[in-house]
Amino acid sequence: MAKARSQFVCQNCGTVHTRWAGKCDGCGEWNTLVEEGTAGGIGSGPSSMRSARKGRAVTLTTLDGEIEDAPRIISGIGELDRATGGGFVRGSALLVGGDPGIGKSTLLTQAAAALASKGHRIVYVSGEEAVAQIRLRAQRLGVASTPVELAAETNVEDILATITDGKRPDLVILDSIQTLWTDLADSAPGTVTQVRSSAQAMIRYAKSTGAAIVLVGHVTKEGQIAGPRVVEHMVDGVLYFEGEGGHHYRILRTVKNRFGPTDEIGVFEMSDKGLREVANPSELFLGERSIKSPGAAVFAGMEGTRPVLVEIQALVAPSPLGTPRRAVVGWDSSRLSMVLAVLETHCGVRFAQHDVYLNVAGGYRITEPAADLAVAAALVSSLTGLALPADCVYFGEISLSGAVRPVAHASQRMKEAEKLGFRQAAMPVVGDDAAGAFSARSFQPSVLADLVARIAATKRGSSDGD
Ligand code: TYD
Ligand code: MG
Repeated sequence: MAKARSQFVCQNCGTVHTRWAGKCDGCGEWNTLVEEGTAGGIGSGPSSMRSARKGRAVTLTTLDGEIEDAPRIISGIGELDRATGGGFVRGSALLVGGDPGIGKSTLLTQAAAALASKGHRIVYVSGEEAVAQIRLRAQRLGVASTPVELAAETNVEDILATITDGKRPDLVILDSIQTLWTDLADSAPGTVTQVRSSAQAMIRYAKSTGAAIVLVGHVTKEGQIAGPRVVEHMVDGVLYFEGEGGHHYRILRTVKNRFGPTDEIGVFEMSDKGLREVANPSELFLGERSIKSPGAAVFAGMEGTRPVLVEIQALVAPSPLGTPRRAVVGWDSSRLSMVLAVLETHCGVRFAQHDVYLNVAGGYRITEPAADLAVAAALVSSLTGLALPADCVYFGEISLSGAVRPVAHASQRMKEAEKLGFRQAAMPVVGDDAAGAFSARSFQPSVLADLVARIAATKRGSSDGD
């Protein structure tokens, strides 16, 4: 009989090593290798002990043919249904990741209650909390009377035996994947092998029965416990639930979806009675706007198919340091360096003696390059002490040559801005009729220097007017 071998698996990235080392070659993290057994188990691949079986021929087919719409169960919580692409798909597996304490259990309890009260069979399995704690949360959320079936259990075989008993559930929620363990893998719960094997068993159950499953996974900011990362490729959809400490709103972000669009977001607000939907996020992010102060610019952004307006705040202050500080919250710091370099080189705006702080209001995070123009406007506004017009939105990408480049969805961005009472836009030159209603008041610089000149010109303009 072959000797049972063990392997060393990085708990951060899942790289398998044959011998222990202090540092993982895959991701460069220290002290993340853990010894895990390879004997048997779902996660360890086909066993060499089993005699090879003769393959069965499958029927090959064509790309063209009848397509059925993915059957979905709709929760009625609009922001959640938007993020899942129109509801949970039967027979699919969804991973909901996020920092501990962000509200994953709260969101799924609310979803479970909403679905159960519509007559679906919903099973909620918690491996983290006792039944009493979950009941307490349900009471707080005001959903204690809904017919959600509840269990506190961590063993995959026991869970499968429980849910295959009786009518097939429509949705099974497993909170969390890190606490699950299966008899088929012999490493400790929470290790990559256990997480992968347990997830695989549950996904196989979903595919074979047509029940939808939701796996909850904790991801720390540092990516320390990356159990969930290794199941990302196995599931049909990945949603991340995120929010900033100190802010009440939470964003459910779609990062993978085999049955719908990605880059969608659902926006919620955490209250003392659970999560409340925020149907118009722009109003939330622009809520506390200080209209007349310099250094603030409103960016007309896009999140998937949805326009979102956010305020970008810059503070440029004289620096006592030899190397001035650059601090960014909510945006990419290398992108800020780039915008600063373009402003210095092509527009003659000097930041070398100044500290630069950049903040996206409300703790929101921007990933679009289209924010370049709004950032540049906020920076120049703060440096010169000249407030930007309060009814103006900004969007456009800046190239290293100082040109303002067009971005997608110009007309949608402007429609949203108009809806919220903005009357001007600074944006790239758009070829089509996207300027629409804004055409009279839109300013379309072809190079960044034009925008800088326009902001500087407000000094003369306002002193003339006053
Ligand atoms: P929870 O859903 O337990 O987080 P996770 O499952 O992601 O770890 O939510 C935890 C936080 O949410 C906790 O700090 C309390 C807060 N909370 C509210 O503010 N209001 C509520 O109605 C509920 C249920 C929780
Ligand atoms: Mg939880």
